[in-house]
Amino acid sequence: MNIRKVGVLGCGLMGSGIAQVSATAGFDVTVLEVEQKFLDKGFAGIEKSLAKLTEKGSLKETPQAVRARLKGSTRREDLADCDLVIEAVIENAEEKRKIYSALDGIVKKDAIFASNTSSISITELMTATKRPERFVGLHFFNPVPLMKLVEVVRTIATSEDVYETAYDFGKRVGKVPVRTSDKSGFIVNRLLVPYLLDAVRAYEEGVGSIEDIDQAMKLGCGYPMGPFTLLDFVGLDTTYYITHVMFEEFKERRFASPPLLKRMVLAGWYGRKSGKGFYDYKDPQKPVAQDSALRGFAAEEAAAKIA
Ligand code: 3HC
Repeated sequence: MNIRKVGVLGCGLMGSGIAQVSATAGFDVTVLEVEQKFLDKGFAGIEKSLAKLTEKGSLKETPQAVRARLKGSTRREDLADCDLVIEAVIENAEEKRKIYSALDGIVKKDAIFASNTSSISITELMTATKRPERFVGLHFFNPVPLMKLVEVVRTIATSEDVYETAYDFGKRVGKVPVRTSDKSGFIVNRLLVPYLLDAVRAYEEGVGSIEDIDQAMKLGCGYPMGPFTLLDFVGLDTTYYITHVMFEEFKERRFASPPLLKRMVLAGWYGRKSGKGFYDYKDPQKPVAQDSALRGFAAEEAAAKIA
């Protein structure tokens, strides 16, 4: 099957990144959002990223040429002739199922539906449509324009032809695809999530400060970011949601959210996106570790929300 036109659902961090790499690879892309303001925000991010990549000489064309293949829309009908639709909306199974179900009757019958979910069962999402054999997972990593991996997820119902087309699409957008099956968290989050949660538990137990734990894993293991910098980068709310899905699937303690993570999410400390997480980002160039607020553990804002 030949993919020419790609639809992307959601123009947040992941959706805009997926749209950008698809347009860069030469596909015509339409991004669907519920309101124009979300498209404007996402497209501003894409322009910034394309400018950065141009500055580094890693873009083969001008940003304008890439941008010309990208359209934003708030009308579902504009996705009717897409060959591949990749969903990257909020990490909530009900929300995702609703949009798949609505699009199933609009998008042409032989189009492939894919989800960028990090933990929700692809099979569960697939059952919201009447095209189970044409449904896969395409899980990209943040920041999408820089991270080389895409996990290509098959369910027991995915047809061979559809799976190979999705795998090939991963290559065509400049990523290295890996094959995996529909088990919550796939490969990366199956290993990454327990590591991040263990970092929080180690902190709760007083093993080290936020900065020391981050430095230890950066310098001791050669990781590009320490666990708390990465948690703030991915989003504590997103991680918290993933832990729920994975704990529900496996019922193992290693996937359960530590109390501190829950309290930070309740308090709205989501990380970079909200301006505060394990670090405060008032000056994004100089994040300040929040040890003093977190050692007490029930920060005032959190306590108020829990009560
Ligand atoms: N587009 C284009 N350029 C970008 C960019 C983007 N979206 N984001 C950052 N850059 C640029 C920066 O501006 C910078 O440019 P410069 O060299 O001219 O200053 C360059 O890339 C390098 O960035 P930084 O200097 O800020 O930092 P690093 O050298 O550390 O690289 C990084 C940034 C690639 C994000 C690196 O820190 C890294 O690999 N971090 C780990 C990220 C990671 O683990 N992601 C996966 C998260 S898990 C996930 O996504 C799954 C989900 O399901 C939870």
